[in-house]
Amino acid sequence: MASSDRVWVFGYGSLIWRPSFNFLNAHVAWVDGWSRRFWQGSTDHRGTPGAPGRVVTLVQISDQYCGGVAYEIEPEVATQVFAELDRREIQGYGRREVEMRLNNGETIRGIVYIAMEKNPHYLGDDVLSHIAKQIACARGPSGSNWDYVKRLGGALRDFGIVDAHVFEVEQAVARLIRAPLVKAHLRGSS
Ligand code: SIN
Repeated sequence: MASSDRVWVFGYGSLIWRPSFNFLNAHVAWVDGWSRRFWQGSTDHRGTPGAPGRVVTLVQISDQYCGGVAYEIEPEVATQVFAELDRREIQGYGRREVEMRLNNGETIRGIVYIAMEKNPHYLGDDVLSHIAKQIACARGPSGSNWDYVKRLGGALRDFGIVDAHVFEVEQAVARLIRAPLVKAHLRGSS
């Protein structure tokens, strides 16, 4: 098959640990010029309209790169897979084509879902303590925001991917979750 016939999707958030589609191949991969950040608000999966959670998106930073998992999808099912992913990533994410460096040395083009700055749920940056508190208190139909952060951190470690921002947020939320004050707040808000 010519490389242009191959269909690839890059996952850097929940798609790393729960792709929920069948794939032919999966590789750890890197996308240059983009960095993962907890800057997208979630009221449909990991938060509610009253208390949005924070999930990851990619932001363009020229000298950085993002590690994730690239999945090769059978071309015959690609339309159906993208329709399902469009539904799953409906809250602010759009498809974009990027170049990915696979851990087998290949460079290929594929699709990534990114929540760009102008979408209505975009939260952007904040101080670490605010981000951590927001995550510690948020819960939505897909579970707690803390669970999302833990799963992401765990999946990155399993794949040998280092991400200073994710690990820093994970540690900050872990510290809060252990704090009695926040536990009381969480009980009070559930
Ligand atoms: C992704 O995983 O690639 C997109 C963001 C998410 O669903 O967490």
